[in-house]
Amino acid sequence: MSTVPSRRPIVFSGAQPTGQLTLGNYLGALRHWVTLQQDHDCLFCIVDLHALTVRQDPNELRQNIYDLAALYFACGIDPARSTVFIQSHVPAHAELAWLLSTFTQIGELERMTQFKDKAQRHHHNINAGLFTYPVLMAADILLYDTDRVPVGEDQKQHLELTRDIAIRCNSTYGPLFRLPDPLIAVEAARVRDLQEPTKKMSKTAASDLAKVMILDEPDAILKKFRKSVTDSLATIRYHETEQPGVANLLDIWCAATGNSRATALDHFSHHQYGRLKNETADAVITLLAPVRERYHQLSRDPAALQALLADGATRAKERAAGIMNRVKSAIGLPV
Ligand code: TRP
Repeated sequence: MSTVPSRRPIVFSGAQPTGQLTLGNYLGALRHWVTLQQDHDCLFCIVDLHALTVRQDPNELRQNIYDLAALYFACGIDPARSTVFIQSHVPAHAELAWLLSTFTQIGELERMTQFKDKAQRHHHNINAGLFTYPVLMAADILLYDTDRVPVGEDQKQHLELTRDIAIRCNSTYGPLFRLPDPLIAVEAARVRDLQEPTKKMSKTAASDLAKVMILDEPDAILKKFRKSVTDSLATIRYHETEQPGVANLLDIWCAATGNSRATALDHFSHHQYGRLKNETADAVITLLAPVRERYHQLSRDPAALQALLADGATRAKERAAGIMNRVKSAIGLPV
């Protein structure tokens, strides 16, 4: 019997460089990415081409790209173990997106709920890129023979489309693309808005008090939790519909301290909301302090950051080249 050398499963994920990330992004995504590095071959991308589907200020965009990269590293993404790069540094993403667009039906894209939402929110700029956004995302994923894609619920539909496109190509040309699976973290906390706790905490929320940013200073974090919306029942129980604000604080405290919900209820049940708010704030401050510190260190040396990203791009390009050749030859483009 021959032994097959074990291959670590390939993970691809990315975030858009649009504005700062929240505690929700950290607990729901970035912290999960960091642990995936232990037993996966990870690629983490700053998807700047995706960000262009909404009009961006050039200088702000450039700054946001580097800020997001610094934040990836500050959170614990390790450039020695994972490939971290800027999407626009690897032209194969746009190239494969074009090829895949010829295997994607307009009707499929019209059904994407994110397109429908964004078309409503940006009704003055419903550009073709906004429409084909999911095809570019499919290219990101299929370009690296990705096995698993950590995504939030809101991206599952895009991942299903990615699989449909891959299956369609495979049935025409034989095995061309590996079919990726979504990876929804079981332990990831669903952090909700501090002012409207029935909604997800979003980086685009209008009110500053609604969201804790990863880079917020301790006093800002404390203020936001102190002012968070609870209810007038004056009892600490976990009840998502009757007491969504309290449930959110309990969830955040658990995620930040690593405690279970039962422990949280034990710990807080005889206390008042003020105590829950203060202790949750403290736990989050402790959790984010080292991230903020590393971020500021990295920001002081832009040349070093750029060097890390150049290295990531080189590695990503090498990996993408093999797959591009495979795809081009299969469909009849001379390589
Ligand atoms: N669409 C994703 C989002 O808005 C970002 C993204 C682009 C992505 N390409 C990806 C996520 C590939 C995972 C894999 O969150």
